Amino acid sequence: MATAAPATIQAFTVTLIIRRFLPEVDDEARWESFDVEVYSTDRVLDALHKIKWEQDGSLSFRRSCAHGICGSDAMRINGRNRLACKTLIKDLDITQPIYVEAIKGLPLEKDLIVDMEPFFAAYREVNPFLVSKTNPKKGKERIQSIADREIFDDTTKCILCAACTTSCPVFWTDGQYFGPAAIVNAHRFIFDSRDEDSATRLEILNDKEGVWRCRTTFNCTDACPRGIQVTQAIAEVKQAVLRGRR
Ligand code: SF4
Ligand code: FES
Repeated sequence: MATAAPATIQAFTVTLIIRRFLPEVDDEARWESFDVEVYSTDRVLDALHKIKWEQDGSLSFRRSCAHGICGSDAMRINGRNRLACKTLIKDLDITQPIYVEAIKGLPLEKDLIVDMEPFFAAYREVNPFLVSKTNPKKGKERIQSIADREIFDDTTKCILCAACTTSCPVFWTDGQYFGPAAIVNAHRFIFDSRDEDSATRLEILNDKEGVWRCRTTFNCTDACPRGIQVTQAIAEVKQAVLRGRR
């Protein structure tokens, strides 16, 4: 019996228009166009690699895992924050150029690379770690019911890619706002029944830079590559602040 020939993967050419900034030579960012041959299985990250390896080695961007886990390659693709490694080129409108630029609201360092320090500074400020003031009973692990674990399951999925925070208009205009990602990571511990210092996090987030800056635009939820209900998490933290407890 004849075996079916393997399906061939079609190659096609797309144009990527990338916002470049080389601090050694550029006074301000500029757009540069690249034509690149890709396959239907390629992602935007693959196209960026091809450009870097075959056309212009100076093109700079961050990436590590290439599989949606490390959170290092968030960028604006056709005006929307996405992970380059999770964005299939064939799912974009390939009859038009694909615009790629750095995420907004953080200082631009080079090409698609921004200074992430303000983002991580806000993350650190909300104490994103379990605080316990007592020892577990009988020296055993801290028991948690399935129902209690479920309460913060969604916010454990965060990979700190900054796609949410850098899609937030309040963050763009007000560098002081903690931003959605910091609140998501505060939520993860505020609602953890084993944590014993929710009160401090709620106090921090009740500050003028905290949850009340959120204007519920849902950009953050739309941008999150992990599907986290970011706006809902922020709303739950707001309610906890009003209650004065988790
Ligand atoms: S909440 Fe989502 S978009 Fe925001 S940093 Fe975490 S994974 Fe990225
Ligand atoms: S390279 Fe790690 S998430 Fe995209």
